[in-house]
Amino acid sequence: MKLLVTGGAGFIGSNFIRYWLQKYPKDKIVNLDKLTYAGRLETTKDFSKNRNYSFVKGDISNLKLAKEVMKGVDVVVNFAAESHNDRAIQDPGIFVRTNVLGTQILLEAAKRAKVSRFHHISTCEVFGDLGLNEKRAFKEIDAFRPRTPYNASKAAANHVVMAYCHTFNLPVTISHCSNNFGPYQFPEKVISRFVTNLIDGEKIPLYKSSQNKREYIFVDDHNEAVDLILKKGKAGETYNIGSGVEKSIEEIADSLLAILGKPKTFKKYVPDRKGHDRRYLLSTEKISKELGWKPKYDFDIWLEKTVTWYQNNQWWWRPLKLGAEKLYDKTGQK
Ligand code: NAD
Ligand code: TYD
Repeated sequence: MKLLVTGGAGFIGSNFIRYWLQKYPKDKIVNLDKLTYAGRLETTKDFSKNRNYSFVKGDISNLKLAKEVMKGVDVVVNFAAESHNDRAIQDPGIFVRTNVLGTQILLEAAKRAKVSRFHHISTCEVFGDLGLNEKRAFKEIDAFRPRTPYNASKAAANHVVMAYCHTFNLPVTISHCSNNFGPYQFPEKVISRFVTNLIDGEKIPLYKSSQNKREYIFVDDHNEAVDLILKKGKAGETYNIGSGVEKSIEEIADSLLAILGKPKTFKKYVPDRKGHDRRYLLSTEKISKELGWKPKYDFDIWLEKTVTWYQNNQWWWRPLKLGAEKLYDKTGQK
């Protein structure tokens, strides 16, 4: 089988390629990535020499290129996106261009190439937010109520993906995953930012609504679920992927302080994120009942292993750290 993975020089995409090449050593993978600030060849270093792997630098919004790289491809997995809410607040336009228009162009190329599956990577954030004590979880059939520019761009992309399915019979699947953590996460997301700050002896900035929660999943649980959807999922269907493990910002901070042996004085409170979503939680009943998936990586164990990875791989994140922090120069969230 030949896969086109987009955004494979970023956090989840690179972990997916690493996972796939190990599990299916005969499959071929082409990685199409624009190498934005979040995409780096260093992230793909350990598998870049694999003879079944090739890299193409380019934009998913380039139809000519997308058609070219789609030749002979059976399955497309679209990870490429602008992915950080804080950046979307400062520059929403690029989120719409990449996440919506880019996805449409990739779908167009996939339609023309008659691929057997187009899998689109989406997020729990398309459903909007939940109250901190609300007793429900988002189901696949729930209405999209995005509240941030990033979430809105992801929700719009999902609609375009489904439009290509209904209108052109493109065999698509979509997965909505909760917040991932693990190695190679750009040091702008909460866990990777906090860990790298603490390793550097810096305080960690908790946004003012520090009781807000996210559902955290180790990145290889996400990869396994996508694998299963590609193998057993039905075209035209959407699947939620979540762990059920909810942690507030405060709890994330406290766990990381404990792992790294730092006192509570390393926490500081900074101005809140604009439009800060309180909470997301996914129901995984569908993927569990229909495909037999369940998460297997324990949060505490893999959080600790992730911290160790950042301690041992400073070559990877250190060159990114200053640039990542520049985003907050004007917001006071440093
Ligand atoms: P990331 O920002 O680490 O990586 C994104 C990658 O896409 C980078 O390598 C970047 O260079 C590439 N890219 C960006 N624009 C591109 C373009 N126009 N053409 C080609 N490549 C481009 O993101 P991530 O955290 O790995 O997220 C991957 C996907 O998973 C995204 O679609 C995101 O919305 C989704 N997702 C992420 C999470 C999470 O917790 N990180 C949770 C659910 C869903
Ligand atoms: P983030 O990792 O940016 O993911 P998302 O916004 O996609 O859920 O943020 C997760 C939570 O952590 C969110 O409630 C905002 C909070 N947060 C902080 O408190 N401090 C930070 O420096 C960052 C980046 C996030």
